[in-house]
This record gives sequence, C-alpha cells and structure tokens, in this order.
Amino acid sequence: TNGVITIDRGFKNTGSCESEITFLDGEKGVLRYRGYSIEELAEKADFLEVAYALIFGNLPTQEQLNKFHADIKSKSVVDDDIKKILDAFPKTAHPMGVLSSLTSALTAFNPSSVNVDSEEDMYNSIVKILGKFPVLVSWTMRKKQGLPLNYGSTSLGYVENILKMMFEQPNESYEISPIIKDALDKLLILHADHEQNCSTSTVRIVGSSHAGLFASLSAGISALWGPLHGGANQAVLEMLEAIKADGGDTKKYMAKAKDKNDPFRLMGFGHRVYKNFDPRARIIKKAADEVLNDLGIEDPILDIAKGLEQEALSDPYFVDRKLYPNVDFYSGIIYRAMGIPVEMFTVMFALGRLPGWIAQWKEMRLNKEPIGRPRQVYTGENLRSFVEIENR
Ligand code: SDX
Repeated sequence: TNGVITIDRGFKNTGSCESEITFLDGEKGVLRYRGYSIEELAEKADFLEVAYALIFGNLPTQEQLNKFHADIKSKSVVDDDIKKILDAFPKTAHPMGVLSSLTSALTAFNPSSVNVDSEEDMYNSIVKILGKFPVLVSWTMRKKQGLPLNYGSTSLGYVENILKMMFEQPNESYEISPIIKDALDKLLILHADHEQNCSTSTVRIVGSSHAGLFASLSAGISALWGPLHGGANQAVLEMLEAIKADGGDTKKYMAKAKDKNDPFRLMGFGHRVYKNFDPRARIIKKAADEVLNDLGIEDPILDIAKGLEQEALSDPYFVDRKLYPNVDFYSGIIYRAMGIPVEMFTVMFALGRLPGWIAQWKEMRLNKEPIGRPRQVYTGENLRSFVEIENR
C-alpha cells in the first residue's frame, strides 16, 4: 500500500465484477450455474442445455434448444485454409498452443466476428465458435495421430458429434458408447464455468478492450494451459504415472509436496476458493469408478490416486492448508479410459469451459464493463540522468 493503492497479489481478495452466471461457496463446497446445482445438472442435463443456460440465463425449452443446435450446426464448417496453418505445426506441438493459435486464426476467416456490438452479432459469433471449436479440437488431435481430418454428422447430438469427430477411424463406422457419451457430457458440464478463475478473468480482460470473441477465447485457452490451472489435469496423470513407475511410493511424493525447497506440488490438490472438497471432484471420482467398472477397465492409476487422496486427507500439512482434491485430480482417469491422449486432457477442459468463457465475455460486454487496467505501487529507481554507453 502507498496510501492510495493496495496491492492484492493474485487478486485473492479482489472482486473484479458482479455476475449472475455462477455461484460458488468455497467453504461449503457449493457450485451452481444460473442457480441450478451442479449435482442436478451433471445428473439430469446434457452439455448443450447447460451451455445454453450459462450463455442465455435459463435452461432452454426444447424449441429453443433445437434452434440453438441448428444454428450451431449451420456454422460448424471451418475454412479449409485453416488446415494449412495446422500443417505448419510440428507433430510435437502441444495441442493447447495449436488451439490457441487456430482459435485466434478463426478471426481472419470470420472478419465479422471482430466488432460484435449488437446482440445479434454476438449471437452469430457465439454459434460460430460453438460449432467450429469442436472441429478444431478434433483436427488438432487427429493431425498428431496421422488420421484424416473429418467432420462428424449433423444428425448427431452435440456431444455425440464430438466423439465421432475425435474417434472415428477410416473405413470403420464409429459406434457411440452410451457410457462414454454420458461420461463426456458429465465432464464437460462439470468444467463449463467457475466464476472468475484465471482463464475466465483473462477472457474478460482481453474482451474489455473490445477485442473480438475469438481473440478473447484464444487468450483464455493460453491461460488455461498453465499447470497451475487447467494444465493440472495432464500434470496429475504424469504425476500418478511417475508414482506408479516408482513402485507406487506415494509417501515419497507426499514428502516432496511438503518440502518447501522442492518445487513439486501434489497436482490436482488445492484450490484458491474451495477450502473444502471441490464438489466437482466428488462427482468425477464417483464417475471414474463407474466408467472404469462399466468399461471393464482395471486401472492401477485409480488406486494410486485414491491412496494419495487418503494420505493427504489425514496429513496435517494438507489438512492445515485445507488442500483437497480439485476438479483436475480424477478427470484424467476418465479421459484416459475414453482413449483420449494425455496431452489432449487440457483441451477437453477447454472444450467444457468454452460456454462459460462465452457467457462471461457476453455479460462483460452487455454490462459495458470498462477496459481492465489495474494500478501498481512503483518500487524502482528514482529519477536519474542518461549516461553515454562509453561511460557505463
Ligand atoms: C483449476 O480458480 C479456479 O476456479 C480454477 C479451476 C476452474 O475450474 O477454473 O477450479 C480449475 O485450476 C483447479 C486447480 C488446478 N491446479 C492444481 O491442481 C495445481 C496444484 N495446486 C496448486 O498449485 C494451488 O493449490 C492452486 C494454484 C490451485 C491454488 O493456489 P493458491 O490459492 O495461490 O494457494 P497457494 O499457492 O498460496 O498455496 C497456499 C499454501 C502454500 O503453502 P504455504 O506457503 O502456506 O506454506 O498451500 C500450499 C502452498 O505451498 N499448496 C500446496 C499445494 N497447493 C497449495 N502444497 C502442495 N501441493 C499443492 N497442490
């Protein structure tokens, strides 16, 4: 503080806006989208319904949902020249970097998405990105796998179509497993919004300069990529694999996580707001058991995860800091059971968070929020004169 400005690192105690979209209570472990509880939505809704509610405020009637889906399908073709950009990436490129680039590149092929001042313009940009982003996700994954880049089928539901685009093999008809479809619906719903997290705040602040929706989303994808945020779901699986390779020695990793001189953290644990169980983690843990059981998969990684959770929940270091499993701790186990490559896990998080980012961006624009421009407390040099380079 310099008397006028108070620094709040990481904005831990700073509210950036008023919002009607998502309510969460970190102490009680409560999460609601537009007033609907996450438990009910995960159980009873499908992802497109939840996307509609987040963006437009209420769960849709059947007619509203049909029109929304039809508009999305009508705008889901991606300009083929985007493939030239995709071709330029090395196969080793991380999919989050590819998708951030392709999402921003969409602006070049959809110039009308830059200045969206009317609600009609916003709607057109919203259905475009909801239609095109799953295509970009599929193309990014299939490019790495050397598979043909395809479209799904407009006769399918939104989530079924995502599965078909991602997993259809050449010369084979892709059978959609109801178990996998339900699991993906649930995971995408659970990731759909989370008030002012790092990536959503990024989308809001980029959008506050009136950059277009696609450019704002591209920035959100980049923020989500970080291992402290959405990138944690990939880091959790890599951590669990390392523990498995280490003979399941969870105690060694618990000690590393508590050692202040060791940068290692127990990935998938802890949360800025939840100081109780993350309600999403509770639902995903149950779903992981069900999906593995229904698919008849024995995954020792799940047992290691449960062992780690048990140890942490009784360890004073974690209990004192109220560190519980978060949304990223168990989700990767389901993604892996669905055959999704680990470097695509954070992309799946982005696919789920897309409607939340859109809803928050739209609210920010409709509320005419001012451009985000925080202040600072200057701690650098006082005034000093220029010195010629030969005298330095
Ligand atoms: C997501 O904000 C959101 O809502 C995000 C998200 C969403 O839906 O958008 O919920 C999604 O990002 C979930 C979080 C995924 N990240 C991880 O799992 C990475 C591991 N977790 C942490 O890095 C950490 O817990 C954060 C980033 C999630 C929260 O960090 P904070 O709130 O800034 O807390 P902190 O770093 O100040 O930690 C407080 C204390 C510290 O110890 P002390 O200095 O007090 O001694 O807890 C310790 C930390 O060292 N700590 C951990 C730890 N997390 C915090 N120690 C070991 N392992 C951990 N995972």
